[in-house]
Amino acid sequence: MSEQPRASFGGKLSVILVAAGSAIGLGALWRFPYIAGENGGAAFLLVFLLSVLVVGIPAMLAEFAVGRHTKKNAVGAFRALSKRWSWLGYSGVLGALLISGYYYLIAGWSLEYFVNSVTGSLYSDAASFTSQFSEFEGSWRPIIYCVIFILMTHLIVSFGVEKGIERASKIMMPLLFIILIVMAVRVAFMPGAAKGYEFFLSCDFEKAFSPDTIMMAMGQAFFSLSVGMGCMVTYSSYFKKNNNMISTSFNVSLLTILVSVLAGLIIFPAVFSAGLEPTEGSSLVFITLPEIFKGMPLAALWSSIFFLLVILAALTSTISFHEVLTAYFSEEFKLSRKSAAFVTTVVSILLSVLTFSKLFGVDYSNVFDFVTANILMPLGGMFTCIFVVWYMKKSFMKDELTNEGTANRYLYKVFIFMLRYVTPLIIFYIFIKNLI
Ligand code: PHE
Repeated sequence: MSEQPRASFGGKLSVILVAAGSAIGLGALWRFPYIAGENGGAAFLLVFLLSVLVVGIPAMLAEFAVGRHTKKNAVGAFRALSKRWSWLGYSGVLGALLISGYYYLIAGWSLEYFVNSVTGSLYSDAASFTSQFSEFEGSWRPIIYCVIFILMTHLIVSFGVEKGIERASKIMMPLLFIILIVMAVRVAFMPGAAKGYEFFLSCDFEKAFSPDTIMMAMGQAFFSLSVGMGCMVTYSSYFKKNNNMISTSFNVSLLTILVSVLAGLIIFPAVFSAGLEPTEGSSLVFITLPEIFKGMPLAALWSSIFFLLVILAALTSTISFHEVLTAYFSEEFKLSRKSAAFVTTVVSILLSVLTFSKLFGVDYSNVFDFVTANILMPLGGMFTCIFVVWYMKKSFMKDELTNEGTANRYLYKVFIFMLRYVTPLIIFYIFIKNLI
């Protein structure tokens, strides 16, 4: 029950690993490389870096401040600061709910591909990977694997903040980095890899700095850093008071950028080495990459390792939005943590079944993705920035960022300035442009 002392993450490293776990996910692994490759390569990286600095980090800091200060779930946190702004917490909870409606399904695909790689059946099937994938999509298997993925997430979350989320992140994140590095090295030795590096890193400033690309980079920064969805509010409610949030936000962002770039350094050299065309999203991961692995010695092994990587990245993200909902149900409805996790799991399964069933012919995953990426994330992020610097007392953000005057004594000013005058305006501009 909520009377127990509130859980908290251990040291500095735990905080970074847990928050980076939320951030690093499908966004970094399968969306970033393609967007970058198609939109100016290394120059896009620069645009993305700027987006992270100007929009992502300030918005993350605003969420951190709200969560750590109040030590409550997303709704409770905003409400504790101001009743009138509690809708911001609901917007985060709604976002976490909607993302649950499609993210688990994709994560489930990678689980099936992992299993089929381990058993070898992915490579013994004579059918092409395209037809294997469409046969899989058309069957009932995706929903089974999706439910298994939700149950895996459930298991971790229901063990609690420290014994579940923190411990899992401390095991899974290092493993994820090791796999990334091993794969990047392996791919570097593939014949023709250079062409891939060239595609990914060739610099096209004109493309990268076009309005459309900048917008894409901002959207990617939001999604990838898990801001605007109550996640960072909820996670930071488990931070200790002396956590240096500016340094945490930088570390989390750096790791996310690093993984995004490493993903590109793995995918493109491999794709070009196999003489294939770069694609994105599901066709990249479930059709193009298996095609590449097939041509490599030890195909099943590399393929298993790769899909394990996707699973690790996805799982550390799914536990974060599961936790948003679990903390919400538990604290707002006075449920035990186990019951709250159970409710969250049931709701997640129902939503995934709805998306899978395409009831009334609606593509829910597109709808959910559109609403979260284009409405809830930008608006939630923007109003959180406005809230912490315009509505709250002047000292609020200063005290949070400096830990009551003991850290970041000058640096904090930069972020308060950005939160006041830069970040919300940019988000607003992007939001309007996106809708038109
Ligand atoms: N950042 C995660 C990813 O890139 C997705 C996510 C968004 C997770 C919002 C939680 C909240 O995959």
